[in-house]
Amino acid sequence: MDTTVTGTLALSVFTAVLGSMEFGYNIGVINAPQKIIEKDYNATWMHRYNEPISEGTLTSLWSLSVAIFSIGGMLSSFCVGFVSEWLGRRKAMLINNLLAFIGGTLMGMSKLCRSFEMMILGRFIIGAYCGLASGLTPMYVGEIAPTSLRGALGTLHQLAIVTGILLAQILGLESLLGSDELWPVLMGFTIMPTVLQMSLLPFCPESPRFLYIIRCQEHHAKSGLRRLTGRQDVGDMLAEMKEEKRRMDMERKVSIPELFRSSLYRQPIIISILLQLSQQLSGINAIFYYSTSIFTKAGVQSPVYATVGAGVVNCAFTVVSLFLVERMGRRTLHMLGLAGMCICAIIMTIALALLETVPSMSYISMLAIFGFVAFFEIGPGPIPWFFCSRVVLSRSESLFDIFRLQDLCGPYVFLIFAALLLFFLIFTFFRVPETQGKTFDQIAANFHHNLGGTMDMDLDMDLDKPSTELDYLGDDSN
Ligand code: GLC
Repeated sequence: MDTTVTGTLALSVFTAVLGSMEFGYNIGVINAPQKIIEKDYNATWMHRYNEPISEGTLTSLWSLSVAIFSIGGMLSSFCVGFVSEWLGRRKAMLINNLLAFIGGTLMGMSKLCRSFEMMILGRFIIGAYCGLASGLTPMYVGEIAPTSLRGALGTLHQLAIVTGILLAQILGLESLLGSDELWPVLMGFTIMPTVLQMSLLPFCPESPRFLYIIRCQEHHAKSGLRRLTGRQDVGDMLAEMKEEKRRMDMERKVSIPELFRSSLYRQPIIISILLQLSQQLSGINAIFYYSTSIFTKAGVQSPVYATVGAGVVNCAFTVVSLFLVERMGRRTLHMLGLAGMCICAIIMTIALALLETVPSMSYISMLAIFGFVAFFEIGPGPIPWFFCSRVVLSRSESLFDIFRLQDLCGPYVFLIFAALLLFFLIFTFFRVPETQGKTFDQIAANFHHNLGGTMDMDLDMDLDKPSTELDYLGDDSN
């Protein structure tokens, strides 16, 4: 097994996950300074219309500023497949940076130009950047990593996302950049990883898999492989790609409606989609977009610091899950995470409901939020990326617009997530098999094999070789 991490491989992975960090940064960045930015929206309104903004309009404008990020991401994520084949992975990442540049500039200049429209448009464009990046990064990393390191390097995507969230939360503290004057810098700061990525990408090789399988450029693929592995003899890797290309050439291209119609693909596609939805509809982004106001409502003394605390717990448990996933298997961890989140959501609801009568409930709700985040990173955070990296799904949660929901349901908003979590838990229990060490083809083959009979969910999906915990590192379904 080749486990050498060459300088070129390390540089290329680092450069690629700068995109994931940028994605995380923009998830976390609007959380702490919400009130301060809202104040500026009000000032702009006063300047234009000579009257203060109404609470309803302000809530709508802010909700739009938050949610439009997801709409941008949703739309652009449909283009990942096309753009990555047309331009290549590396050039696609390079050009995607233009979106980050434009989005960051618009957001950073919005205060100066007294325009919340610029902020909203900037969030949309940066959302589009993130939609592309969240498809391109795992794709590129998965393709340049040697098989034995694919799983480990693949998790760096989620690790970089959570690091970005934490960085944004820390920089968003009022004593740093989350102040009246400096919040535009906080927003514009998103350009920094972009500049760094743009200057490093020219030194990273294009994905040899792309060069060989899509472009049929064997010679270039070979030299890329040599740079990435530091070996002269890359015949075995090339043979592996040849085999993959042979299989792909034999496969008929299927359209999206066909995917759902064909009994061969329907089950795995539905599972992939539901797993990704279990990540996005778990309620986690309600925490990362709105934790400061949730903590404020829960009576927590320093809501902004509690938000940073949630970011620290988030990072710590992503690392914990890197170690656990090798020992416990993905399906088990995913279920553990969903169950834990569901319980924490219920505790949080009870604590918030009792807050008026029992003030110490604010601590309980804070702990429940920390637990909620920790359980997320045990399973639903990292695991869907593994399971279905070939199905690029949009982030849909904030279309639910949490704040509106919160207005409607008061402390009971998290019960909705608890119900969704329970549904996903039951679904995972009955429908999701363990996938360690299995390729997408093997999973599909096995579903085909089981059609007509009852599905045995603990079955070994690989027909040829038994699943082992160590297979995780060799998983080429990423
Ligand atoms: C995952 C999710 C993202 C979430 C983050 C929290 O990357 O895709 O929506 O905010 O985890 O750590």
